[in-house]
Amino acid sequence: MIILWVLPVRYCSISLQEIMFGSVLNSCAFWVVVVLLVTLKLYIKLMTGICRSQKQLNGKTAIVTGANTGIGKETALDLACRGAKVILACRDLKRGRKACSEIIAQSHNSRVEVRQLDLSSLTSVRQFAHDIIRTESHLEILINNAGAGGLGPNRTADNLQIGILVGLLKKSAPSRIVMVSSMVHKYAKFDLDNLNSEKWFNDFQVYNCSKLANILVANELSRKLNGTGVTVNSLHPGVVVTDIMRQLPQPIYYITKFIMSFFFKDTKEGAQTSIYLAVSEEVEEVSGKYFSDCKEANMSKEARDEGLAKKLWEKSEVLVRLKPEEIDL
Ligand SMILES: NC(=O)c1ccc[n+]([C@@H]2O[C@H](COP(=O)([O-])OP(=O)(O)OC[C@H]3O[C@@H](n4cnc5c(N)ncnc54)[C@H](OP(=O)(O)O)[C@@H]3O)[C@@H](O)[C@H]2O)c1
Repeated sequence: MIILWVLPVRYCSISLQEIMFGSVLNSCAFWVVVVLLVTLKLYIKLMTGICRSQKQLNGKTAIVTGANTGIGKETALDLACRGAKVILACRDLKRGRKACSEIIAQSHNSRVEVRQLDLSSLTSVRQFAHDIIRTESHLEILINNAGAGGLGPNRTADNLQIGILVGLLKKSAPSRIVMVSSMVHKYAKFDLDNLNSEKWFNDFQVYNCSKLANILVANELSRKLNGTGVTVNSLHPGVVVTDIMRQLPQPIYYITKFIMSFFFKDTKEGAQTSIYLAVSEEVEEVSGKYFSDCKEANMSKEARDEGLAKKLWEKSEVLVRLKPEEIDL
């Protein structure tokens, strides 16, 4: 009977020790993880670049593509607060109008309007750009912000839009073109013979290559526009909590967004480098550079390849059927 009694007690006491020791270990591990996460969060907050320029933009006109949500909307809001006339170039007019009223209400600037632009349609891009030339006498800021992950085999025609608007930007100099790229351009497996996924297709690679193409185009254009008073720079906005991954399966999308919202930038923080390049006096004459957190950053070796940029420009001129009379370079 005694043996029977002692055994379970002994067994229980060992288990209790183990449990207690285990829970101490567990709680240690828990606090290590918490400290690491808080340090990471603090690091991201401290490293986030902020545009300190107080520059006002009264009398200036700006276009922001993909301005109905995310980084684009926040950028457009900032430019409107500085007094610019802001044209929100959006593919969905309903969403665009909603963003437009919100921006007008927050900025108290009624010179904000929406125009339809679907960058995956050459017809839409042509209509948009020619419409701008017809209605606007000047254009000082063009922010090529629109972009999407999980595009499938669809392509966008940013180059066509810039090409057609270049004449107006030159006429309005000093003026600025800002390309929203990404640090993932460094992982692009770029192939000039696969611009339309003729040889192979991979969703992530399509995105990475499109972001590398943004920088190559910005650099080539900056060389072509040298001495005209039009600057062209590209940027990585940081990892920003937006709807960019809305193409992912819903559960993965919501889980990723939830985790990201704790660590990464909000849209206001994510818009800072775009705003900086569009307004800051510090970069008035800087062109052909790549920025992150409102500071110049390193672009990949491929992104710096002038020969590749030239070939891409020539090839995309053919692909978007840019007519010589449409471009003034
Ligand atoms: N979020 C990040 O962590 C991150 C990191 C690096 C770079 N970026 C870049 O930052 C830019 C803005 O992204 P975001 O994070 O703000 O994403 P977002 O919230 O998804 O906004 C993207 C915007 O682009 C528009 N768009 C997409 N395809 C278009 C098309 N074919 N024609 C016209 N507009 C189109 C979207 O319009 P709809 O609303 O109609 O879809 C939306 O307004 C993108 O170029 C993205 O690649 C983002």
